[in-house]
Amino acid sequence: MLTPNFLFVKIIKGMDNMKKIEAIIRPEKLKTVVNALEDVGYSGLMITEIEGHGKQRGIVQQWRGEKYKVEFLPKRKIEIVCKDTDTEKIVKVIVQSAQTGEIGDGKIFISEIIDAIRIRTGERGDLVL
Ligand SMILES: Nc1ncnc2c1ncn2[C@@H]1O[C@H](COP(=O)(O)OP(=O)(O)OP(=O)(O)O)[C@@H](O)[C@H]1O
Ligand SMILES: [Mg+2]
Repeated sequence: MLTPNFLFVKIIKGMDNMKKIEAIIRPEKLKTVVNALEDVGYSGLMITEIEGHGKQRGIVQQWRGEKYKVEFLPKRKIEIVCKDTDTEKIVKVIVQSAQTGEIGDGKIFISEIIDAIRIRTGERGDLVL
């Protein structure tokens, strides 16, 4: 049953809350992650080739006895806009399919999406997802 408190929150926040999930993953994990997402029914996404570093600020590599630092490492960014209620499920699928347990597995950032519009029809909100 809907409590008055639940209704109040919904009225303030709107009926179609959406989130954007940005996952920074290893390039070699891209296919696995996209396939895992498709398997659970998520097809709308975008992919960007990016470079970056986290806590280790890149890595020290050795080549012909010389040590040199690679400051930025190639990663892939997957962005998915989803219904609020699907967020945890999607995050779980990404973590399970992208994790190796080694440093540099990547990160996931989650933010609020205010609205969405399908250009072809002018539809708005979570029905465009
Ligand atoms: N604070 C941050 N803000 C924005 N992007 C970040 C941040 N931290 C990491 N990234 C992005 O995530 C990528 C991978 O980070 P990484 O997995 O190395 O994080 P980490 O914190 O160093 O964790 P680990 O110890 O597992 O390596 C970076 O190349 C960068 O693109
Ligand atoms: Mg790191």
